Amino acid sequence: MNSIKRLGAFVICLLLTTIVNGQSTDAKMKAFIDALMKRMTIDEKIGQLNLPGSGDIVTGQASNSDIAKKIKEGKVGGLFNIRGVEKIRDVQRVAVEETRLKIPMLFGMDVIHGYQTTFPIPLGLSCTWNLQAIEQSARIAAIEASASGINWTFSPMVDIARDPRWGRIAEGSGEDPYLGSVIAKAMVRGYQGNDLKKDNTILSCVKHYALYGAAEGGRDYNTTDMSRIRMFNEYMPPYKAAVDAGAGSVMASFNEIDGVPATANKYLMTDVLRKQWGFKGFVVTDYTGINEMIDHGMGDLQQSSVLALKAGIHMDMVGEGFLTTLKKSLQEGKVTQKEIDDACRLILEAKYKLGLFEDPYRYCNIQRSKTDVYTAAHIKTARAIAAESFVLLKNEGSVLPIKKSGTIGLIGPLGDTKENMPGTWSVSTDLQTAITVRQGLQNAVGGNGKVLYAKGSNLDADSNYEKRATMFGRSLNRDNRTAQQLLEEALAVANQSDVIVAALGEASEMSGESSSRTNLDIPQVQKDLLAALLKTGKPVVLVLFAGRPMTLPWEQQNVPAILNVWFGGSEAGNAIADVLFGDVNPSGKLTTTFPQNVGQVPLYYAYKNTGRPLPQGKWFEKFRSNYLDVTNEPLYPFGYGLSYTNFNYSDVTVSSNSLKGNQQLTASVTVTNSGKVTGKETVQLYIRDLLGSVTRPVKELKGFQKIELKAGESKKVSFAITPEDLKFYNYDLKYVWEPGDFQIMIGSNSRDVKMVKVNWTK
Ligand code: BGC
Repeated sequence: MNSIKRLGAFVICLLLTTIVNGQSTDAKMKAFIDALMKRMTIDEKIGQLNLPGSGDIVTGQASNSDIAKKIKEGKVGGLFNIRGVEKIRDVQRVAVEETRLKIPMLFGMDVIHGYQTTFPIPLGLSCTWNLQAIEQSARIAAIEASASGINWTFSPMVDIARDPRWGRIAEGSGEDPYLGSVIAKAMVRGYQGNDLKKDNTILSCVKHYALYGAAEGGRDYNTTDMSRIRMFNEYMPPYKAAVDAGAGSVMASFNEIDGVPATANKYLMTDVLRKQWGFKGFVVTDYTGINEMIDHGMGDLQQSSVLALKAGIHMDMVGEGFLTTLKKSLQEGKVTQKEIDDACRLILEAKYKLGLFEDPYRYCNIQRSKTDVYTAAHIKTARAIAAESFVLLKNEGSVLPIKKSGTIGLIGPLGDTKENMPGTWSVSTDLQTAITVRQGLQNAVGGNGKVLYAKGSNLDADSNYEKRATMFGRSLNRDNRTAQQLLEEALAVANQSDVIVAALGEASEMSGESSSRTNLDIPQVQKDLLAALLKTGKPVVLVLFAGRPMTLPWEQQNVPAILNVWFGGSEAGNAIADVLFGDVNPSGKLTTTFPQNVGQVPLYYAYKNTGRPLPQGKWFEKFRSNYLDVTNEPLYPFGYGLSYTNFNYSDVTVSSNSLKGNQQLTASVTVTNSGKVTGKETVQLYIRDLLGSVTRPVKELKGFQKIELKAGESKKVSFAITPEDLKFYNYDLKYVWEPGDFQIMIGSNSRDVKMVKVNWTK
C-alpha cells in the first residue's frame, strides 16, 4: 500500500514537473521573443517573413552573393535549396555576425525522399505499406540533411491524388486518406523526432495545403473544386494527421478552392488549420504563391500580399510580395501591426524551437557532413526499402525469379542511365552515384553469367517530347540511329540471351511537378520494341519505370512478367537485381488504382455505389452506371501486388455480429503461405457503412498489417475495430458514426476480400 502511495506521489510530482517545465519552456520562449521583437523595426519584422530563392550561391563567395547583401539589411528570414554545409555556414555567419539583431536563418530544402542517400519516390515508398521503413527513410533523410546545413524540409507531401495524369501523384502516398494519414504521421516523426533542438532532427513542412492533388483534368496548378463533405472525408485527413503529429510548418498550395486561391483562403488557413485543428506553427506560401494571385485575378501584388497575410500566411516564398508591399499596406491601414507581429513571432518561434538562437551553427557541423551522409548503413537501408517498394504486377509461369547464370539480355532506354534512377525531386542526391539496372545485374551475377545490354529504342520517337521529359540533367542521351537500327541491335542481344529484361517506361522527369500527361501508355516506340522482344519467344520480364499508374492492358495481356519499380532511389539498380534474382521476395502493393485506360480516370477503390450500380461481375447493362467500351474494373486494384509465393485467406471471423455503443469488435482471418518460399503479405481491412445520413463509399481502408510467413506457415491476423473507425464527416461536417449494418472485409487487396456483416447500434 505504502509503495503504491509513494508511486502515486512520484507520478504526480513527475506530472507537475513536466507541466511546470512545459510552461517554463513556453514562457521562456515567449519572454525571449517578446524581448527580441521589442528591438525589431517594422522592416526587420517584415524581413523575417521573406524566403527568397537562394540564387546561385557559390562556395567561398556565399557571403559576397547578392543574397548576402539582403541578409545584411535584415531582409531575409530563410533561404532554401542550397546544397553544401560550407556555403550554408558562410551565409549563416552573415546573418548572425553582420546584421543588427543577429537573428539566425532557416535553411530549407526539398528533401523529399532522402538527401544524398535517396529512397524510392514517395508513391513507391507508400507501396511498402511499412510504416517503420517509411519513418526510417525520413529519419535518415533528416540525419543527412541536418549534417549538411539544412534545418527545414518541404516534406511530407500528403496530397491525395486520384488522377494519374497529374505528374505530382509521384510525390505523395496515393489515393487513400487512411493510408495517407498514417504515412504522414510516420514521416513527421521521422523528420522531427521528439526534440527539434537535436542536431539531427529538422522541421517538417506538410504540403500542399490543400487539395492540390485534385486539379481538374490532372493538369498541374489547375483549378480545384469540391464539396466540403468530400474535402473533409477524402482529402483533408492526411494534412490533419501531419498537424496532429506536430508538423512545425505547412505550405499553402498553388490551386484555388471555392474560388479563392489557397494562399488567400482564410477558411483554410485560419478557420480550419488553426481554429479547428489547433495548428501552432507557421504557414509558408509555395513558390511565388502570392505573386500568382495576380494571374488568378485577385489584385496586384500589394493587394495579394494583404489577402495572404490576412488569410493566415506567414512566410512568402520567392516572390517578395510581403517584403516590398507590407509596410505600405500597414501605413495605409490595410493590414495591422498585430498581423505582421503574429507572423514574425511564428517564424522566430520555429527558429527558437530548432535551437538556432542557442547555436546558429547547430546544423552546420562540417565533421558530421563528412561522417553522417551517404553512409554504408544508410545505403544498405535504401536498398532494402527500394526492394520493398516494387510491385509485382504479373508473373505468369513463374518467369521470375530468374537465375544468376547464363546470359541475361538487358534491353531498353532505362536500363543504363544513372540520372534516371533516383526519380523526381532528388535535388540533393549525387546522380553519378546512382546504381543502374545494368550495374545492379552485373553486381549480382558477378562471374557466374553474362549481362548484355542494348538501348533498343529512344524514350520516345518525338525528340521534342523526349527533351521536355528529361529536363534538369536527366537526359537519356538521345541516340541518333534510326528506330530500326536500334531495334536490330537489341534483337541481336536478345537472340544471344536466355532471358530478356526489358527496362522500359517513363523517364524520371515524366512525373513530378509540371509533368502532367494525357496518354499514360508506355511510349509507342518502346512498346514496339517490347513487341519485337516478345516475338523472339524468349522469356521477357518487363521492369517498368513509372512515377504514376500507367495504362498497361496490352502489357498485361502479352508480357509474362511485369515488375513495377517506380523510381527506387540511389540503390535502385541493386534492389531491382535483388528482386529479379529472388534474393528478395517482392511485397509491394499498389496505393493507387491502375486504370485500364485514361477515360476511366478518376478511378479509385473507395467510390460511391450510385443509384444505378452495375451488378457485380457484369460488364454492361443498359441504364446502369457503366461504359459501352470498357468494364468498370481497374486493370490492377488498390492494394494489389503479387509475391513469389501464394497466400490463402480463410473466411473472416468476428467476435460478435451485433454490437452496441463503444464495444470493440475483433475481426480475424488466418493467412497461409501455400507456396514454396518465405514471403511478406499486407493483410488489409476494409469497412463499408451500409446505411448513412449521407452516401458512403463501397469500402474504405481502416487498417492493415504486414506479416511475414515461411512456406507452409499460417498466422491468425486480427483487427480491433471500435466506433472510432466508423466515423466520418456528416452533412454538417460533424465527425460522427451512425448505427446500422457494416460490412467488414479483409483481403489481400481492395478487390479480393472476404466479408462478414455486423450490426452496430448506439
Ligand atoms: C513546389 C513545392 C516545393 C517548392 C520549393 C514548388 O514549385 O510546388 O513542392 O517545395 O517549389 O522548391
